[in-house]
Amino acid sequence: MKTNEIRNKFLKFFERKSHVIWPSDSLVPQNDPTLLFTGAGMNQFKDMFLGKGNLEFKKATTCQKCLRTGDIDNVGRTASHHTFFEMLGNFSFGDYFKKETIEWAWEFLVQELKIPEDRLSVSVYNDDQESYEIWEKYVGVPKAKIYRYGEKDNFWPANAPLLGPNGPCGPCSEIFFDQGERIGCGRKECEPACDCDRFVEIWNLVFTQYDRTEGGKLTPLPHKNVDTGMGLERMARVIQGVQTNFDIDIFSPIIKSLEEITQVKYNGQIEHAILMRRIADHVKACVFCISDGVLPGNEGRGYVERRLLRRAIRDGTQLGIKECFFIQIGADCKQCNAGILSRYQAASGKHCTDCEE
Ligand code: GLY
Repeated sequence: MKTNEIRNKFLKFFERKSHVIWPSDSLVPQNDPTLLFTGAGMNQFKDMFLGKGNLEFKKATTCQKCLRTGDIDNVGRTASHHTFFEMLGNFSFGDYFKKETIEWAWEFLVQELKIPEDRLSVSVYNDDQESYEIWEKYVGVPKAKIYRYGEKDNFWPANAPLLGPNGPCGPCSEIFFDQGERIGCGRKECEPACDCDRFVEIWNLVFTQYDRTEGGKLTPLPHKNVDTGMGLERMARVIQGVQTNFDIDIFSPIIKSLEEITQVKYNGQIEHAILMRRIADHVKACVFCISDGVLPGNEGRGYVERRLLRRAIRDGTQLGIKECFFIQIGADCKQCNAGILSRYQAASGKHCTDCEE
């Protein structure tokens, strides 16, 4: 199944559950001076969670463009890390809560995406007995596959009660895909919280019910909300059965261009693959930043973008590229002239040429 199909299936599934399909916000948050870039689907709905928003619906679903640079050093080295990525999500502003969220998530994974149930495990926040019972009694997940973890793993944002940031937050329940014993640490007792790669976190269901204020005070919000996040590229990796997010269909045109420009094989040496993955990630980030009005500069957002640009160009140099190459990988698909952005727009239902790549 192609990435575009997964994106569409998700949005349509939640539309059938009476959600409004709402557009992605810009990468530059429109009404939130506390954020440099949009890093999660919930950012544009913060006021709705706080009971101050004026949108006329209580259920929404989005595919949000996100930029996060906290893990920039891992990009290319691990199977999953990105700076730019797309995040699928469903949101409730005082409408449904845990039961529907959990049951719909399972229905989507098992019935729509056809993931075998025995490859899935879940986790809940330590004292969230309600979610535990929904997974066990209503969904039928065996006890041995329901894990209880603390604030670091099962609160969103992670460690928020202790460390912040302030704002809407809550306990979460995560769903993991088991890649099997052959992947990762190989320990019999390996479980989703292990740092190895065996269990891939594919969906985070956040029950946004508190407003954190200075000093770690958690005040219940006027109503209980839901904020879920599913990284599109990671889900596509699982569904397409490939090794890393960079091996999925939407990355292959970029990797292919890099192979042509450098005459270096992506599947050759691992050091080369890391450089190519990092360039592929950073060129996407730059294209989307520019399209949202951020130009490389010396401070703020512009500085972040400049750093991405410089790192990718340095990586290109290490692959032996001497001339300007960004325009070639960021711009055109040889089949239809569509670039990264046009492909994305086509996938999001906006106008583009009809590239099948
Ligand atoms: N807001 C939920 C997530 O980013 O996982």
